[in-house]
Amino acid sequence: MTLILGLESSCDDSAAALVTGDRRILAQAVVGQNSAHAPFGGVVPEIAARAHVEVLPSLISQVLEEAGVRPNELDAVAATAGPGLIGGVMVGLLAGKGLALAANKPLIAVNHLEGHALSPRLTDPDLAFPYLLLLASGGHCQLLEVRGVGEYRRLATTIDDAAGEAFDKAAKSLGLPYPGGPAIEALARDGDPKAVPLPRPLVGSSEPHFSFAGLKSAVQRAVAAGTHAPADLAASFQQAVVDCLVDRTRRALGDSAAPALVVAGGVAANGAIRAALEQLAADNGRSFSSPPGWLCTDNAAMIAWAGAERFAAGLVDPLDAPARARWPLDPTAEAARGAGVKA
Ligand code: KG4
Ligand code: ZN
Repeated sequence: MTLILGLESSCDDSAAALVTGDRRILAQAVVGQNSAHAPFGGVVPEIAARAHVEVLPSLISQVLEEAGVRPNELDAVAATAGPGLIGGVMVGLLAGKGLALAANKPLIAVNHLEGHALSPRLTDPDLAFPYLLLLASGGHCQLLEVRGVGEYRRLATTIDDAAGEAFDKAAKSLGLPYPGGPAIEALARDGDPKAVPLPRPLVGSSEPHFSFAGLKSAVQRAVAAGTHAPADLAASFQQAVVDCLVDRTRRALGDSAAPALVVAGGVAANGAIRAALEQLAADNGRSFSSPPGWLCTDNAAMIAWAGAERFAAGLVDPLDAPARARWPLDPTAEAARGAGVKA
């Protein structure tokens, strides 16, 4: 059975995992860097890259040892080659190249977004192509029709902030720690989602895209006004994000006949968001799938799995594969009007 080592280092999580072609995760390890970045209130690229240099090699030895696997027993080494913070991407990609070279195994240069996009198929063997994917993370918010490995049609993207970024900034204004998503979700449990009136940008629009900047500013103003309880602010903010995601996804269902709706990426770890999208899928006669929470946030199992899918399709990469800060899944998609682009 195919055996793939996956490496992830595109943002602030260093991770390694061993995954088989028949969906077994033999070992995995993730080390986050929250405490290193906390004093700065966001991810500092230089600090992130240095931290990957320090921890990634020991994570690799750890997963190989735990699974009792020697490098020459691997079928391929899959490493995130972008998009992301370029310094960190270079660290993980070069580690992958070194291993592939030393073990004389093929390298698979994985698009981090493809890692998220294919992650639901690691834990849901029944999820077949095509599916409509809501990919919501700290850096991206997109609707994609996933037609196959390496085959994506982008239906929508955000014209300003990503959904996770909105969670992180709303959390910061509430004095909550980074990453903001889990903190807001926890606080929202004690709040009233109707307490604070907040905007739902682009809801009901005939345009396909997302927008969260106006919501983020509105919640910052509402916090500054000091008239609402933090739990009510968190619950109302989360409800506004749910409403935006559901409305935009409902619109996209009209553009895709895919039988399944899938949500993945860090924001998909949110219980309220998962529940609302599951209901949307049921209301529209589509099946629903979402990876477990630990597979939604950044990890290397999804990179190894994307590697396994690409390996099965005969897609391997040369050792001079580049590290890419930007790397769209659908290179034919036009820039969204309003997204810093002249119409
Ligand atoms: O996929 P991910 O780990 O990294 C990127 O590729 O960006 O996503 C991280 C994002 C952060 O913005 C974080 O606040 C958000 O996912 N997130 C959540 C939850 N857990 C993580 N957002 C809402 N609710 C959560 N439970
Ligand atoms: Zn990610």
